[in-house]
Amino acid sequence: MRIAISTGGGDAPGLNAVIRAATLSALSRGWSVLGIKRGYYGLLGEDEVVPLTAEAVRGIAHQGGTILRTTNRGNPFDFPVQRPDGSWASIDRSDEMIENARNLGIQAMISIGGDGSLAIAQKLVDKGMRIVGVPKTIDNDVSGTIATFGFDTAVQTAIEAIDKLQTTAESHDRVLVLEVMGREAGFIALHAGLSGSADVILIPEIPWRLDQVCEAVMERDRSGRKFAIVVVAEGAIDEHGETSLIGESLPGQAPRIGGIAHRLAKSIQQRTGKECRALVLGHLQRGGMPTGYDRFLATRFGAAATQAVAEGKWGHMVALQSPHIVTVPIREVLRAPKRVDPTHDAVLTARACGISFGD
Ligand code: F6P
Repeated sequence: MRIAISTGGGDAPGLNAVIRAATLSALSRGWSVLGIKRGYYGLLGEDEVVPLTAEAVRGIAHQGGTILRTTNRGNPFDFPVQRPDGSWASIDRSDEMIENARNLGIQAMISIGGDGSLAIAQKLVDKGMRIVGVPKTIDNDVSGTIATFGFDTAVQTAIEAIDKLQTTAESHDRVLVLEVMGREAGFIALHAGLSGSADVILIPEIPWRLDQVCEAVMERDRSGRKFAIVVVAEGAIDEHGETSLIGESLPGQAPRIGGIAHRLAKSIQQRTGKECRALVLGHLQRGGMPTGYDRFLATRFGAAATQAVAEGKWGHMVALQSPHIVTVPIREVLRAPKRVDPTHDAVLTARACGISFGD
């Protein structure tokens, strides 16, 4: 048996732990393992395909990033190509990719990625490829699994930022607005904001109003607490009903979300007269060593993916449904993305602790 492993989409702490566990558990079955570099680029002649041996995956479980590298532009069904006049078009290179995989003797693939990569995996399965998915994203927005690896590390990084902002905010009587990642999901903001004792948490799933945010800040001010921490998810819809986007994305890339913290800080300062500062935490949330939780989950996912290949569970994704790792059909996972439930106990707990959601 020869299998291949690919990592696609934005990186997440824990990817290397999945690669290591999937590789070692495949090798121990007597299989051979190939690593496809940069998503599927390695199968399109745009990058390499490398052997994954025990030596190649030694000592990587604690490292952030991915030894296979990754891209969020490598969709073989929608591959960006530049025309001679400089404009961009996209072409379907999936048949070429499948043919190249066949020529390399690849009999099955483990695709590690978020919703975008899983959607590509499903389309390849529909064309006859034998693929098992592993859910990866710091955003935690993949359905069918209680958690994705990378999320816990991102939350930890955001909590550390809040802890540090608390002391400087208090020293200056300032409002500090921290923007965290998550695209259209508010999990990072909710978990970090609640754990870091933020005063206001704004998430895409709960529409908020500026006057409510300012009221929460001023109520705190009147009670003698002259500083405040506002944690805002990058995808939170602003007071004009819009998602804040950062400039142009490259061809083949999803629109880049971000920038709401600066606008919000400016608006709060104008309305309340309080001095405000903004911080966009950005890609710090994706970097660094995975936490113990993420390493543990990623390692379990890696071995479970190999097991799913052995059982021929094509078109399935490994998932955490505590306390077990299970497999679920990718098609079902893709039906709806996972979002924060506004009635979830974490939201109710935050409210009970006096945290405002600006609603
Ligand atoms: O999906 C993971 C994520 O980190 C999002 O939270 C964020 O919006 C996006 O990726 C950033 O992507 P890029 O690496 O292209 O800037």
